[in-house]
Amino acid sequence: MDHFHEQGGILHAENVPLTAIAEEVGTPVYVYSAATFRRHARVFREALAAAGPRVHIAYAIKANPNIAVLRLLADEGYGADVVSAGEMARALAAGIPAAHIVFSGVGKTRDELGRALDAGIGQFNLELEEEGVVLAALAAERGIVAPAVLRVNPDVDAGTHAKISTGRKENKFGVPIDQAPGMFDRLAGLEGLDLRGVAIHIGSQLADLAPLEAAYARVGELVGELRGAGHAITHVDLGGGLGVPYRPDDVLPSPADYGAMVARATAGWDVTLMFEPGRVIAGNAGVLLTSVIWVKPGVTHPYVIVDAAMNDLARPALYDAFHDFVAVKPSGARMTANIAGPVCESGDTFAMGRTIDAVASGDLAVFRTAGAYGATMASTYNSRALVPEVLVDGDRFAVVADRVSAETLIAAERVPEWLKR
Ligand code: LLP
Repeated sequence: MDHFHEQGGILHAENVPLTAIAEEVGTPVYVYSAATFRRHARVFREALAAAGPRVHIAYAIKANPNIAVLRLLADEGYGADVVSAGEMARALAAGIPAAHIVFSGVGKTRDELGRALDAGIGQFNLELEEEGVVLAALAAERGIVAPAVLRVNPDVDAGTHAKISTGRKENKFGVPIDQAPGMFDRLAGLEGLDLRGVAIHIGSQLADLAPLEAAYARVGELVGELRGAGHAITHVDLGGGLGVPYRPDDVLPSPADYGAMVARATAGWDVTLMFEPGRVIAGNAGVLLTSVIWVKPGVTHPYVIVDAAMNDLARPALYDAFHDFVAVKPSGARMTANIAGPVCESGDTFAMGRTIDAVASGDLAVFRTAGAYGATMASTYNSRALVPEVLVDGDRFAVVADRVSAETLIAAERVPEWLKR
């Protein structure tokens, strides 16, 4: 459930008409609903209460790393899952305690590992044996011990888009699950390392709980095996991945369904369970507000050319993702159209032959479910401005990320001396 609803014929974010935001900030602009973020955070946490008392939720900030969003989630007691020094800096800047931060990522550099140790990051999710050796040495040099878990690859097909599937053995993530016991034996004795458990994350936008449950079952067997070999396993990180509805008629497992499955799958594990949800918290908490520039005649259908483009919302171009498109002031009439942005590529197309609210030049509309993997994946391709972000909270709103203009970007570039005239 989200807080984007029509009131008096105008689509609102909570109590703010989107027309007011367009007028003040311009378009394209991402608009987030604080109430929706809070609601999702609470629903997800409550769903996991069934799984036991020791639960740590580290929001995968890659989904939406705006520091206002992070502050809001920190206030809900959420930690952060980060995958770069940049994300770590954001989480810390937003006031998330270092101890509540999990550092994931398949290519953490030595520099990043050192900085994370210096910051006191709460857990390192190791992606290969050698990373454990390096981390142990860096920690020992500092006279500290790094809390870590080993990410295993369970070789389970998550049944999601190939580009966001991570749990097959041919993917780059984690270590083959059958090799984990040997690695534990070799890493567990290292000074500087507290290898305390395992992690898993098999993919994103999962529409079915069965692959997750199968993967968790394998983790359960591994935990038993590791304990049998004398290793103290106190933490298991079950990752993220829960999908969200993008289409009005999509039916996905709810957080409650997920919580019940987790309780079933992890019964008797006696560990602190950790989670890294991203999309399920952020997806439906944001929309991309855009203006129609032209309605251009096309061969089969007209092209609705909007001022948002693939550089602002990359998911349709990258994954053929569906984002619902609705008018801010719908007349009730419908039209069948293609929806595209101004970027000079045919891939800059949001939809083909879709039946949508009828719109005309100058009208406002939104792409829904754009709160996750939206602004964070934006670029400035075609020298378009970096898209701004607005946070609505009740009847207030604030710009929480500026529109970064081409002029600002040009100011960060330089013509070398030898090319100057
Ligand atoms: N933990 C790890 C280790 C991850 O790699 C990810 C996402 C998450 C947690 C959060 O997953 P979520 O709960 O959001 O599914 N850009 C793509 C999604 C990429 C996901 C990458 N990893 C998209 O727009 O669909």
